[in-house]
Amino acid sequence: MSDLSSRRKFLTGAAAAVAALPAGGLLAAPQATAPTQRPAAQPRKLPAAGQFPVKAISSKNGLAATKRAYELLMQGKDTLDACVEGVTIVENDPNDMTVGYGGLPNEEGVVELDAAVMHGPTHQAGSVAALRNIKNPAQVARLVMRQTDHVLLVGEGALRFARAHGFQEENLLTEKARKIWLYWKQSLSEKDDWIPPPDLELDPEIRKYFGRPTGTIHLAGINAAGDISCVTSTSGLAFKIPGRVGDSPIVGAGLYVDNTVGSCGSTGRGEANLQNLSSFAGVEMMRQGMSPEEAGMEVLRRVAKTTPKRLLDDKGRPNYSLKFYLLSKDGRHAGVSMWGPAEFSVTDKSGSRIEKCVFLHEGEPAD
Ligand code: GLY
Repeated sequence: MSDLSSRRKFLTGAAAAVAALPAGGLLAAPQATAPTQRPAAQPRKLPAAGQFPVKAISSKNGLAATKRAYELLMQGKDTLDACVEGVTIVENDPNDMTVGYGGLPNEEGVVELDAAVMHGPTHQAGSVAALRNIKNPAQVARLVMRQTDHVLLVGEGALRFARAHGFQEENLLTEKARKIWLYWKQSLSEKDDWIPPPDLELDPEIRKYFGRPTGTIHLAGINAAGDISCVTSTSGLAFKIPGRVGDSPIVGAGLYVDNTVGSCGSTGRGEANLQNLSSFAGVEMMRQGMSPEEAGMEVLRRVAKTTPKRLLDDKGRPNYSLKFYLLSKDGRHAGVSMWGPAEFSVTDKSGSRIEKCVFLHEGEPAD
């Protein structure tokens, strides 16, 4: 399918969806003709002030991060500060090769990080993209939100901004990440001059990362007052073209929160999410009365429906992974995944644990 015909298909679908909506579009009250064809849900009763169920949820790689964020939420720390502190643990971890220090680099072997933060109580957001040499992009994104009149800084400008605020520059490429990148480069083509080492000489750890891994952490937290904030941080698609920016730092795509409704954030193939602004859509669906799980699954179906043919497997299913993590104002949560089984992390009064995502397709993506 050409891009033009897939675009036409998308527009037809979008037009049908818009036609089914009331004049105010997604922000208007739910009606029986909403895209899922379900009757309008009644608004759920919210907990009394000060009695919202405190919790933090994240992508699977953020179990320790949710634990830390939960502790801070319980201590009364601002919801965004709690989330950023949780994410910092993963950004500092060289063993997580999809976030911060030790993240896999771009095609030239340089680590470029993206991150965004959103603070529910003030509805303010900040983000940085293609940031080099600074291992905690979520902290820089929070400063963009608090100490500038802007929302998004990129590349050299983001680096200078971080420098001005005293962030230390360092080489973010670990030896392990360098070796994985080098093997990718050596194996890329038989028409260039790079030759991979013989199989027997290859460290199995390096082989494990063959392909284009996507990772990322998304973390959202709600406190007893019912305030919600969230953070997404990533090194992005491994071996990307320098300057490529994914969904993570784009408000509405990599994350979104409306303090009266809930939050949504993502990990996985950023391009698929960017073309649907899925985190914004997920929150708007919860506003219409869907549960976090229903909203997440509807978002996945939308993304699947607009996927170009070149990214579909032989059964017409998206050949990539994509996950969303949703938290509603009344404290319900869900993780949803294009492919499963898949998991995500939660910490609340019952403790820290890994939970199962609901998924659209069973198995592994073909990519
Ligand atoms: N979701 C992370 C990325 O695509 O960069």
